[in-house]
Amino acid sequence: MDDSLKLVIDSYDPDAPLASASTIPSTWYTDERIFELEKQTVFSRSWQIAARKDQLTEPGNYVTTEIAGEPLVIVRGNDNVVRGFFNVCRHHAAAVMTEAAGQANQMRCPYHGWTYSLEGELKGTPDFTDVCNFDRAENGLAPVQIASWENWILAKLDGGQQSPLADANASLTEFLGVELINQMRTLGLDRLHWLERRTYTLNCNWKVFVDNYLDGGYHVPHLHKGLDSVLDYSHYTIENGAHFCLQSSPMVSRSDDQVGAVRGGQRALYYWLYPNFMINWYEGVLDTNIVRPLAVDRTEVTFDFYFADVSAQSRERNRASIDVGERIQDEDVGICESVQRGLKSRAYHAGRLSVRREGGEHLFHRLLCADLKAAV
Ligand code: FES
Ligand SMILES: [Fe+2]
Repeated sequence: MDDSLKLVIDSYDPDAPLASASTIPSTWYTDERIFELEKQTVFSRSWQIAARKDQLTEPGNYVTTEIAGEPLVIVRGNDNVVRGFFNVCRHHAAAVMTEAAGQANQMRCPYHGWTYSLEGELKGTPDFTDVCNFDRAENGLAPVQIASWENWILAKLDGGQQSPLADANASLTEFLGVELINQMRTLGLDRLHWLERRTYTLNCNWKVFVDNYLDGGYHVPHLHKGLDSVLDYSHYTIENGAHFCLQSSPMVSRSDDQVGAVRGGQRALYYWLYPNFMINWYEGVLDTNIVRPLAVDRTEVTFDFYFADVSAQSRERNRASIDVGERIQDEDVGICESVQRGLKSRAYHAGRLSVRREGGEHLFHRLLCADLKAAV
């Protein structure tokens, strides 16, 4: 690593307590080298959401995704086992599966027609008869380790490609931590049904979106006036785990406005899992956010909306709930893009953190620093 990059990383002090801490330096949001390093560390060493379980219920169901720029395919085999592979043809590297999700009998590369079984073995190689020293058995799709948790299949790029499922499960359990696993279990997420996905592209670094999420409701009364009316902002709590933060707010019961009508229950729970996954839970309503870096200043956020009741009678109410989520997101997009412009300014280098509100952001910055430093 070059010295100037090391200096940029070392300019953050992860040991400062919250009351004395600053944010990570603004260059971490604008420097291409940090962006590349994050792909190799933060996004390669963590477990990343790759698919929803409801997308993979039948043999032949598949989902394609990208983690840290690596194309992946998750597929349920004819033997009913869900597997993950790099979605990269062993011939000349084209993507084998090109749809976001679907159903297939085999995986056929669109370039020269090589075919792989649903279990990843190379089966068909047209016009390849005179090729010497070519062993089909060694040219199956390269596996990536996956494991499942609650409603999701997660994948991890680094390490253990060939390791048995038990190892992947143990590695995921260690990453999530028993505390988070137990808390999630009590929410009964398996009773919720996925209804809709919406994807947004933001002109900001991925960490700007995560910071905004982790400010302990600091921005809510100023930026989200509609949401503010149903949250009891003064009783907002922030609890850090090892790799996660739970922000929680008691709900004020109101049915007289648009937000209150679709966001009810006793408490709103906002879980963030390092580095880029959020689980937003209200009674009977769940949405998740997956934050994907596209470039140093471009980020894709995918929202998945789930509801306890997805019957025809609930259609209007569920739609209204998704629309509320969209309005909040629009307000966040505007402010995140404003922050990204400010981070590029010569007048800004780092900022201070609210002790009352921004403990989650502090955890995020320290975890990030640990991952980047491990690469130095
Ligand atoms: S790249 Fe897939 S068949 Fe040639
Ligand atoms: Fe927000």
